[in-house]
Amino acid sequence: MIISLTQYKGGVGKTTSAICLATLLSNQAKTLLIDSDPNRSATLWARKGLLPFDVCSDSEAPKRLMSGQYQHTVIDTPARPAADDIRAIAQGADLLILPTTPDPLSLSALVQIATELPQGTNYCCLVTLSPPAPQTDGADAIAALKRHGLPVFNRSIRRYKAYIKAAEAGVVVNKVPSGGVAWRDWEEVWKEMGHGKVG
Ligand SMILES: Nc1ncnc2c1ncn2[C@@H]1O[C@H](COP(=O)(O)OP(=O)(O)OP(=O)(O)O)[C@@H](O)[C@H]1O
Ligand SMILES: [Mg+2]
Repeated sequence: MIISLTQYKGGVGKTTSAICLATLLSNQAKTLLIDSDPNRSATLWARKGLLPFDVCSDSEAPKRLMSGQYQHTVIDTPARPAADDIRAIAQGADLLILPTTPDPLSLSALVQIATELPQGTNYCCLVTLSPPAPQTDGADAIAALKRHGLPVFNRSIRRYKAYIKAAEAGVVVNKVPSGGVAWRDWEEVWKEMGHGKVG
């Protein structure tokens, strides 16, 4: 399984989502996260060696993949890719995840990407950084994407400080105090991906 994450707009939760998805996949089988972003955010997150999967750079990826030890690969891509990059990323993935914050600029970037994807791309939008209830921005964004006919996860990823703490501590969000509630969103997304209960 190769999952890639991309978006025209930066800061929409690509790296955070890549870390969480790689964690879910690593419960199933050995997983490699390829950090294609020159900012190296995922590599920085992994620096303490506390994540349940391996992380490597683009240049290390061929050797790692040739070793045959990985069943799953997650690819975190740079911010602001060109349209050609997005098409290449889409072609190389079994599942392309397009994270978006629930603001109009990020949503319209997605609508744009969707028109540029190669035919037959298996992709799904994921609304991230959605503000806490009673604000309805997350649900509104999901409804807007559906109105545009875009595939989208029904569960949005809520905004919690636990993610910032997890990145600082170099762990997955479910390993920090108060991160359990944030992790529930990922368990729901995992179910929507056709998997059962996590664990
Ligand atoms: N669900 C969340 N709740 C709270 N903070 C979050 C959440 N998701 C991401 N963040 C924070 O928002 C910022 C952007 O997230 P992230 O780095 O994952 O986005 P990105 O799309 O990879 O950014 P870039 O385009 O710079 O690579 C980070 O500081 C991250 O810790
Ligand atoms: Mg990133």
